Amino acid sequence: MSAYSIRTEVKHPSASSAVDWENLTFGRTFSDHMFVVDFDGNQWVDPRIVPYGPMSFDPAISAIHYGQSIFEGLKAFKGNDGKVRVFRPEMNARRLNHSAKRMCMAELPESLFLEGLLKLLALDAAWVHPEDGYSLYIRPFMFATETYLGIKPSDTYRFVIMTSPVKAYYQGAIRVKVERHYTRAASGGTGSAKAAGNYAASLYPAKLAQEQGFRQLIWTDAANHEYLEESGTMNLFFMRNGLLHTPTTESDTILAGVTRDSILTLANSWGVPIETRRIKVTELQEGLRDGSITELFGAGTAATIAQIESIRIDEEDFTPPPVEERAFSNKVAETLTGIKKGVLEDPFGWVHLVQG
Ligand code: COI
Repeated sequence: MSAYSIRTEVKHPSASSAVDWENLTFGRTFSDHMFVVDFDGNQWVDPRIVPYGPMSFDPAISAIHYGQSIFEGLKAFKGNDGKVRVFRPEMNARRLNHSAKRMCMAELPESLFLEGLLKLLALDAAWVHPEDGYSLYIRPFMFATETYLGIKPSDTYRFVIMTSPVKAYYQGAIRVKVERHYTRAASGGTGSAKAAGNYAASLYPAKLAQEQGFRQLIWTDAANHEYLEESGTMNLFFMRNGLLHTPTTESDTILAGVTRDSILTLANSWGVPIETRRIKVTELQEGLRDGSITELFGAGTAATIAQIESIRIDEEDFTPPPVEERAFSNKVAETLTGIKKGVLEDPFGWVHLVQG
């Protein structure tokens, strides 16, 4: 049952047959359509699906000047049965509103998020590649559209969902470095929101790390750089003495990842003991030194399960056991893929089937 009247302008012909699936780079190819809806200061108006393409704006819109801009990331998959499935979209709809609240933006009805998304996916189903390793990355985002240079929350917003066919964000295991100087998020700040500015702030330290050969940073707390936080593109996990560890998201400095939540749910159901709490960098260091850490990985929508092959902590490099020996994270990766592709049972009701 449709609660909204979403007008649709179909693009002809579809550009999907021209995609070079072999040489797909993350986030550079976009599918035919996007979902767009505007907040006019009172309500969300004119929900529509239109051909993907440029939008024009007044140069004074406040998103550009003062950064009221938030986003989400989720994925759709095509199984061998040809059906399109989207993974836990209601979590993203909820988190978008968490971000909107923190950034003083309009909240979007979750039902409108879901209805726009499912209709968009039904129309662009040809962009979900069925082969293993592929998915359709979905990027919902909202930004302030009021034309005004004074500093105040915008009265008006635009919400858009665009999609992009992808392979994994990281190809193979990655090298990371624990960051002890720069900060991603401070307590009281916007770290738990998926705010565009959080990503802008991380670019410079990430660039310095990349120049040293690291793919990503592991952030530490802003106060003393003593506790592990997250990696910006993913949450951090390690297995120590059979206990699955991940930093708590109870503080307001870490993004509550959907993949993170899915891993914790699976671990619980398998009887794997879990430690979610503030975790000191020294615990990671000691565990890598004495061999009690058997697995180390990041988890995120784009990153999926990103195995960490080496980590630098205070000028010392550590190499956890080889990826093939990491039983838990390999099982998690396989299980999540199986559920998303409709090959394995979905005991938690995570997957939404897209009706063609
Ligand atoms: C995601 O996993 O969806 C992210 O937002 C990470 C990234 C590509 C910025």
